[in-house]
Amino acid sequence: MKCPADFDFIDPAVQSDPMEFLATLRHQAPVYREPRTGAYMVTRGKDIRYVAEHHEIFTSYIDPSVFLVCQGLSLEEKDPEVAAIFKKKARLIPHTLLLTDPPIHMRYRRLALEALSPKAVKALVPLIEQQVERFIAQFDSGKSIDFVAEFCERLPLSIIIQFIGAPDSDFELINRWAHQFFSTEMGQKSREEYLKTVDMMCDMFNYVERRIEAVQEQRDGTLLDDLMHAHLATGDEPLTIEELISIFHVFLVAGHDTTRQTLASGMRILATKPELFSQLQQHPEHVGSFIEETIRMFSPAVMTPRVAAVDTEIDGVSIPKGATVFLCWGSANRDEAFFNEPDQFRCPNESGKEHFGFGYGQHFCVGNRLARTTLSIAFAAFANRYGSISLMVPESELQYEPAINLRALVSLPIACVRKAI
Ligand code: HEM
Repeated sequence: MKCPADFDFIDPAVQSDPMEFLATLRHQAPVYREPRTGAYMVTRGKDIRYVAEHHEIFTSYIDPSVFLVCQGLSLEEKDPEVAAIFKKKARLIPHTLLLTDPPIHMRYRRLALEALSPKAVKALVPLIEQQVERFIAQFDSGKSIDFVAEFCERLPLSIIIQFIGAPDSDFELINRWAHQFFSTEMGQKSREEYLKTVDMMCDMFNYVERRIEAVQEQRDGTLLDDLMHAHLATGDEPLTIEELISIFHVFLVAGHDTTRQTLASGMRILATKPELFSQLQQHPEHVGSFIEETIRMFSPAVMTPRVAAVDTEIDGVSIPKGATVFLCWGSANRDEAFFNEPDQFRCPNESGKEHFGFGYGQHFCVGNRLARTTLSIAFAAFANRYGSISLMVPESELQYEPAINLRALVSLPIACVRKAI
C-alpha cells in the first residue's frame, strides 16, 4: 500500500489523476502538509466543512495567480510589471465573490444571486436550448468528433458571453481569450506566455467595459443589465465598473471550465457504458441524477484554496498563520463517511444526498442552478437525438490536463449515431 510520501505533488501523473493520492491522504493523513509547496491539504468531508464554515480563521483573501482572478492593489507589490500593464491598458480591478470574506462578500453574493435567480435561469432556457442545438447540428451522424473541442469548450462559453450581450460574431475572439487563460492556468508557462495572457486579459476587461457602457446607455435585459440593477432589489450599493468586470471574470473562471469538464466527464461515461445511455433514453427523469453523480465522481473543482488568518489547527494538526489550505472537494466526494461505496457511479444515486461538487457554506456555487440547467438540457438532447454514442479510442488513451485543481479531459473522440426514424 502506498503512503502519502510516495506521491509527488507536481508529478504530471498525480496532477492529471489525483484521486489515488487524495484517497491515500484521506485514509492516512487527512490534514497533510504537502512538502514541496508547504500547503495543507484537507481531504475529509467533516474537516472541509469546518474550514468552509470559519472564514475568520480561513480567509478567502488569498494571493491568487493573475489567472485565478482579479488582483486589486496587491498586484502592485507582487508583480509591478503586470500591474503596470493593467494600469496602462485597462483597469486594476478588486477582489470580489470567491476572493472575499463576509461582510464584504455578502454584498457581492446577494447581487450575484439576484442576477442568477431561479427566474433569471429559467429565462435563459430557450437560449441554452438554442446553443445546444447549434453545436449538435454540426455533428455528422457516425463521424468521429473531438467532443471536448467541438462541444464542451463551446457551449458554456456561448452562454456566459450572452450574459454581457456579446454578439455571436465575437464568439471566436472571446473563445481565444478564454483558451489562453485556461491554458496558461494549466501547467507551468514561460514569463513571456504569462505576459501575453495578461495583455489579452486587459483586452477582455476593456471589452466588458464597453458592454457596461452600452447597457448604461440603453438597458438590454442581459444578465449584465440585471447585475447592474440588482441593487434596486437587494438595497445594496450599486456595483462599480471595476466590480462588474471582476464579477464577470469570476463567472468566466468559475463557470466555463467546470461546466466544460462536467460535459466531458459525463459523455465519457455515456460513451463507455451503453446501458447507462439507454437508461437515460428510457428514463429522461434520471438525467438530473446522472449529472449529480458525474459531478460527485469527477469533481470538476477538485480543490480550492483558503489561507490561515491566524495560527490554528485542524483535527490536531497545527497550521501556521499565512499557510495555504486546500479544501479538496474531489476527496470529500469520495469520503466513505458520507457516501456508501463512493467509488461506484450510481444512477439514480442516493436520492437527495448533497455532494461537495459545488462547494459548501459561504461560497457555495452561485452558478449551480445555471450549471445544472445547462447540463440537463445538453444530456437530454443527446439522449433524445442519438441511438448510440461510442468512444473512438481505447479508454486507456484518454488523458487529463496536468492541473491538480481540475479534472479536464484533453480530448474525447466519440461518434454519435442518430436514432433511426
Ligand atoms: C458543474 C459546474 C460547476 C461546478 C462543479 C462549480 C463548482 C464550484 C465550487 C466548488 C465553488 C466553491 C469554491 C470555494 O468555496 O472555494 C464554486 C463557487 C462559485 N461558482 Fe461554481 N461551479 C460550477 C458552475 C458555475 C457556473 C456556471 C457559474 C456562473 C456562471 C459559477 C459561478 C460560481 C461563483 C461566482 C462562485 C463563488 C461564489 C461565492 O464566492 O459566493 N459556477 N463553484
